[in-house]
Amino acid sequence: MKPPGEQLFSSHPQLSAFKDLPDKLLVDGALRRVLDLGCGVGEHIKIWAAKHPNHHFDGVDISRPNIEVAKQSNLANVEFHCEDLMEYRSKGYDFVFSYSTIQLLAAGDEDIYCKLFSLLKPGGTLVLGIPYACASNHLIWLVRSLLRRIRGNWLDELALRASKFLHPALDEDYLRERIPYIYMPARRYDGASMRREMLGQGLQFVASAELPFVSLGQTRHRLVTYQRI
Ligand SMILES: C[S@@+](CC[C@H](N)C(=O)[O-])C[C@H]1O[C@@H](n2cnc3c(N)ncnc32)[C@H](O)[C@@H]1O
Repeated sequence: MKPPGEQLFSSHPQLSAFKDLPDKLLVDGALRRVLDLGCGVGEHIKIWAAKHPNHHFDGVDISRPNIEVAKQSNLANVEFHCEDLMEYRSKGYDFVFSYSTIQLLAAGDEDIYCKLFSLLKPGGTLVLGIPYACASNHLIWLVRSLLRRIRGNWLDELALRASKFLHPALDEDYLRERIPYIYMPARRYDGASMRREMLGQGLQFVASAELPFVSLGQTRHRLVTYQRI
């Protein structure tokens, strides 16, 4: 199995839910800076950058293959950076987005929330696509932590077969890329405790919205909006 920095993360079923996300923020003439943390192959920001050629977009991902694919874009207003988002130093973003990444990070909660704060301008908007506490997510995380203990090549192959059965419309490479996530329980999730800790770091909860259900094997996510105080 490839290590985290070698995985390729491509198109996912919730992409259409994000395509208009920063539009309201990008309507006026001022130059805005947008950042996607854990951008995968850059699908979200490529859509946004093509729609908003007068604004600047950065994508950060730790995976070299992801960033190599992302860089095949020829959009002049996009830059992709291959690095750990916790080490990413640029600041002053109007809009920071991150889908299904924050819950995976090994860093401590306070360090992560402080990092998110530091990336934004005062008044800037943060939108996280993140799992939340519910019976089905807890069940998935329990199964993942049990699978982690017996992990091996045979289990990867079994998981791939099960994924093909559950998602017959998705191609094999796409499913193979996601196998490592079968062993990753969430280190954090949306809820009162996270919102309180985010507030403690200067990020005020604004709103949340449920994302469309994808499949029984995938955790349910919300889009949660914060504003930097
Ligand atoms: C579940 S995937 C989501 C990808 C993308 N946001 C999307 O919606 O398709 C998580 C992504 O986070 C990236 N990632 C994981 N840890 C990271 C880190 N410490 N810094 C930057 N990217 C990271 C992975 O390489 C992967 O592309």
